[in-house]
Parts: sequence; structure tokens; C-alpha cells
Amino acid sequence: MKKYLVGVFDSGIGGLTVLSECVRRLPDCDYLYFGDNAHAPYGSRSPEEITSLVRTALRVFDAYGADAAVLACNTATAVCARAMREEFSFPVVGTEPAVKPAAFRCAQALVLATPRTVRSERLSRLVGNFPQCSFTLFAPVGLAGAIERAEGQAGAIDLKEHLPRGKYDGVVLGCTHYIYLRKEISAFYRAPVFDGNRGTAERLAAVLGVAAAREEEAISSGAASGARFPEREEKEAFFAGETGIVGGGLGKTGTADHRAQAEEKTVAFCSETGMTDHRLQKTGTADHKRGSEGADPPAERREENGENKNKCFYKIGKNGKKSGEKWQKTSIFYLGSGKNLNKRLYEQMFANKQ
Ligand code: DGL
Repeated sequence: MKKYLVGVFDSGIGGLTVLSECVRRLPDCDYLYFGDNAHAPYGSRSPEEITSLVRTALRVFDAYGADAAVLACNTATAVCARAMREEFSFPVVGTEPAVKPAAFRCAQALVLATPRTVRSERLSRLVGNFPQCSFTLFAPVGLAGAIERAEGQAGAIDLKEHLPRGKYDGVVLGCTHYIYLRKEISAFYRAPVFDGNRGTAERLAAVLGVAAAREEEAISSGAASGARFPEREEKEAFFAGETGIVGGGLGKTGTADHRAQAEEKTVAFCSETGMTDHRLQKTGTADHKRGSEGADPPAERREENGENKNKCFYKIGKNGKKSGEKWQKTSIFYLGSGKNLNKRLYEQMFANKQ
């Protein structure tokens, strides 16, 4: 089975929440995560600037032969998803505020998003499709930037300074950064919150499913595939950090040091039924290569306690022995445009989520 390479993009750490959902839904893909942390936040930038920054990131994905890109950023989606779809040959999946589910459950809903998203035609149109719910659109001043600086830690942020007062029976988190404060925002309004991450992951799955069907069709009809699938050598070139693309694309910050950061982590998953185990492990090229040649799964395993039964997890013995399942690796490589890619945060995101 083909292993897809998916590029996930955000202005900074917000898109990690989307990446996490994508990994949960599609554990058999490899991922590049690009947080444009040198230019975050995007929310008040001009559409031209945002378009140009997103283009730079998608060019990096393209250079690595990504099969699809996810704009894990509502702002980027609102501003330039359509233009990016025209410019790039791979599918570009966007992230949109979860207005639809809120419309079916609420009478008065608040939509929180960046200034650029709130002003976008796209959001007005979306909201206009659901007249049964009264939506209030609001752009919390400086909230995405504060979350980026606080590395997603709610304790460092005083919501009273950012959020409007009011009575709402639902709150839409229309910025992937806000998802870090989902519990706190829900408590602030005593109302359920909605985000679009699951929908984005489903859309990615559908898009890759279509690509797979086309590929099969092309193989069975003997035609050459038009889809761009990375060859093993290409991937290994990436894993080994042998290309200068990150540096070339992103200038000064994309140095060897940067590539070293990008190479550092992989997440291991296994099974036919879903994820059964994961552990972030530090790995270099050698480890990775070993991994791709069928290395054993990480020695430390976590026994599932049953809480995740409905997510297709299943038990793995504590003895650390292989139980016959096929181990697969989901590799995630983190790229950024600034120096402060926070490895600890990225690791925690997965440690907490799974
Ligand atoms: N996380 C992004 C979004 O979903 C952008 C936040 C920002 O950079 O202002 O809109």
C-alpha cells in the first residue's frame, strides 16, 4: 500500500491540533508539519502577505513531493485556499470554522476567529447558509499571538482580556490556536465549543481515498499515474536532510541546524485496526532507516486501559513481545521558519492526545 506524504501548515502551533486529528484518522501517512512561527500571528496581516507566506510553505511541501496539503489554519483557508488549489497540483484541504454543527445545536452562537477570518467573505457566506442560528462573529484581540507565545498553556492567558461577555449556547473556535483553550473557553461561556478539526481530517481521508482509487485505476488500465507519489529515495533524501530545500525556501533560518530539528522525531504506530500504541522517540537518520526496513516497535509500550475501545485501540501485552501485528511507522517531521520550534510542546501534543 502506498504511504502518502501529507504537508500540514499553520502560522505556528495551532495546526498541531489538526495534525493530531489527521494522525488519529490516517495513521498510515507520513506528515510534514510546517509552522511558520517566524511570521505568526497571521490574523492581522494583509491578504497579499498571507498568500505569499502560504505559497512559500506549500512550495516546500511540493519540493518534498507531498501528496496533499492541509491548511490547518482558518485564516489561510479564508484568504487563499482557492488560489493555492489553482497553483499546486496536489489537493489542498482547508480548515473552516465549525459553523454547521453549531447551527444544528444552538440558537445563539459565538464565532471566535482572527480579524482576517472574521472579515472574510467566506465566513459571511458560511454563516449565511444557516439562518436558523444567530451567529455573532468576534475577533479576540491578540489571542492567537498570546497562545503562540504561551505555547498553548492556558494558565498564562487571562481570557477576560480577550473574550467578549455575553450569553451564548455554543462557541465556534474558528482559529486552530484557540483549540488549546477549548476547556477554558467552554467554562468561560458555560457552553459547548465546536471546532472543525475532525471535519478537516475526514476531508483529507476522502481526498486521499480518491487519489488511491485513481492510482489503482491507472495501474489496472496500464496508464501512468498523474498523481505525485514520493519515491522511497526521495523520502530518504528528506529524512536524511540531504536536500537544501528547507534552507533554500525559507532563507536564513532553514539551516542545517533547522534541518536537524526537523529530523528529530518520529511517532510509531501499528496495527490494521488502528493505533495501538505510540511513543515519540528521538531518532536520527540511522534509526529511521532501520525503522523503514522493519525494525521492532519501540520497546516501551503502553497498555491500553479500555477507555479508548471505541477508537479501535486494542491491548498490547506488557511483555513487549510482538503479537503478530504489522507495525507501521507514522513519521512526522517538523519544519518552521523561526528558531523557536518547541520540541517539547510538539511532543506533548501527541503524548496528551493519544
Ligand atoms: N491558527 C490560525 C487560524 O486558524 C492563525 C492564527 C494567527 O496566526 O493569527 O486562523
